[in-house]
Amino acid sequence: MSLENYRINSLDEYRESQQYAIKNPEEFWKDIANTFEWKTPFDNVLNYNWNDVPSTEWFKGGKLNITENCLDRHVKENPDKLALIWEPNEPGDKSVNYSYKELLEAVCKFANGLKNQGISKGDRVCIYLPMVPELTIAVLACARIGAIHTVVFAGFSSAALAARIQDSGSKCLITADGAFRGDKTVPLKDIADDALKSCDTIKKCIVLQRTFESISWSNRIDVWWHDFVDGLSTNCTPEIMDSEDVLFILYTSGSTGKPKGMVHTCGGYMVYTAYSFMNVFQTAPEDIFWCTADIGWITGHSYMVYGPLACGATTLHFEGVPSYPKWDRFWEICEKHKVNQFYTAPTAIRALAKHPTTHVTNHDLSSLKTLGSVGEPINEEAWKWYHTHVGKNKLPIVDTWWQTETGGILISNLSGVTPHKPTYATLPLPGIQAALVNDKGVPQMEKQAEGILTVNYPWPSIARTIWQDHDRYQEVYFSAFPGRYFPGDGALRDEDGNYRITGRVDDVVIVSGHNLGTAPIENIINEHPEVVESAVVGYPHDLKGNALIAYIILYQNTENTENLIKEIRQLISDTIGPIAKPDRIVVVSGLPKTRSGKIMRRILRKLASYEFDQLGDVSTLLNPEIVEEIKTTLIN
Ligand code: PRX
Repeated sequence: MSLENYRINSLDEYRESQQYAIKNPEEFWKDIANTFEWKTPFDNVLNYNWNDVPSTEWFKGGKLNITENCLDRHVKENPDKLALIWEPNEPGDKSVNYSYKELLEAVCKFANGLKNQGISKGDRVCIYLPMVPELTIAVLACARIGAIHTVVFAGFSSAALAARIQDSGSKCLITADGAFRGDKTVPLKDIADDALKSCDTIKKCIVLQRTFESISWSNRIDVWWHDFVDGLSTNCTPEIMDSEDVLFILYTSGSTGKPKGMVHTCGGYMVYTAYSFMNVFQTAPEDIFWCTADIGWITGHSYMVYGPLACGATTLHFEGVPSYPKWDRFWEICEKHKVNQFYTAPTAIRALAKHPTTHVTNHDLSSLKTLGSVGEPINEEAWKWYHTHVGKNKLPIVDTWWQTETGGILISNLSGVTPHKPTYATLPLPGIQAALVNDKGVPQMEKQAEGILTVNYPWPSIARTIWQDHDRYQEVYFSAFPGRYFPGDGALRDEDGNYRITGRVDDVVIVSGHNLGTAPIENIINEHPEVVESAVVGYPHDLKGNALIAYIILYQNTENTENLIKEIRQLISDTIGPIAKPDRIVVVSGLPKTRSGKIMRRILRKLASYEFDQLGDVSTLLNPEIVEEIKTTLIN
């Protein structure tokens, strides 16, 4: 049987698979896992304990190498099939194609270089590269030899890079002289040099030549990528890995403290990313799949590299940004490469929607079959813009809910197979036992319900631990509701069983004894026709315990802000009640965001309580300058 046999083709088939997977989870995943290439078959589908010290093991005893499944087996069948299309930052520069055979050869060459350096199974390798094909090659080369990759987004500062190298104990760093991002260049090697001052575990720094700008150099540690691979063989025997051996560490920020190094393992991650990729996006063999994320995020790992390649698909990677050289770049690329599935984030959609729709309509987007959204709840206005202008009122939008910790998509409609519903991630994938509980952990059994989202049963790609901090893993994900995985999100469920993610449950603010979710208030504010985006947070208040402040971004500067604020307050009062009216509403030109587009509410809270000295490190933000601007607005 091939994985294709597990493609879901209709709503009835979805329901059947879901029912079957609930009743026979081990049988369900065993059959799917057996469609992959194992060096030694697994003898145990699942061992888990989520009650005491949490542990989850899938396909124990099975031996494999994920790169054989992502590359070699497709090379055997169809060596010339396109694996990767790379679109560079400059629209005038030529795009680069890799067939499966070419990608395998490049991976093997680099893997041999790593081996020559003494890197072996279990060693950590930190990758700090721009969105170039060598990033995918480096990732897969690590997996080929069993080294654990930890990719750090190339927009992060030297402090952030150093913290991740130190925590992972990486032996080797792979970087570039610089990165192109729109009309800017980023001096990656300088940043890396700065980081390495406090990282004594790094023995070698491999430097890719990308911008050709002059950089500082140490003959002791630095080596050019092209010298590193020069003359090496394009064959490299894959390291045999246990299903539960670590494949990678990927850092994600917690609500407090240092970043969490989420640990993903080989077998389960491979099985789940491939299965979810095929079923959510419903790609056909000749399709071109484009996810606009960066490989520095889990979306890039799972749905730009491992998921698509495990399925033998063609994945498009883009080096640049949506605004360069103009705000039509995404659509230009869709037209140029005849993209069939386009997967992006609501924050990008909202930014695109601020610009004239001619940017979209000037391009032939008739190749598109599926649109996708990931990373945060997609508000109705953005959903409609996406559906109307990009989807021409007919394309399915898959709203995919998942996390760095879950490894793959857990809740989403399946493109063209199960219905979409604006602002709803909709139904759990087969094998995902989602549930809503109240704050005491009591399951909400009615179909239509609201509560805290939990997952009651393991799925193959759940992160197994936090690197060297299993106590924190237990505390964050398994202590709130023993026996269940707690992702930290609130949700509601409609009468058809569709889930709508309402936002982080830690964003609940108690005002005068009332629990107020900030996300629903934001949704109401965003309905005002003059508002682009908003963020509501709580801050300490003498009488009420907490009060609310709303930061709002407007489409255009308005003369009469006072009137607008009045209207918004009335809207909230009418919809939720007077208690939900923010004490303060301030107009800002932007919100502090992480590189992945998430609003940094912690910073907004500190700003609102004038704790300017407790903002922490803002350098890793997408837009650090906005923090100063908001400060000035609040003071005046
Ligand atoms: O709050 C949810 C939100 O993003 C969180 C996970 O963030 P991260 O680990 O950075 O992974 C992002 C890419 C998978 C979740 O806890 N989130 C993600 N996707 C959605 C979402 N919220 C609503 N709808 C989504 N589709």
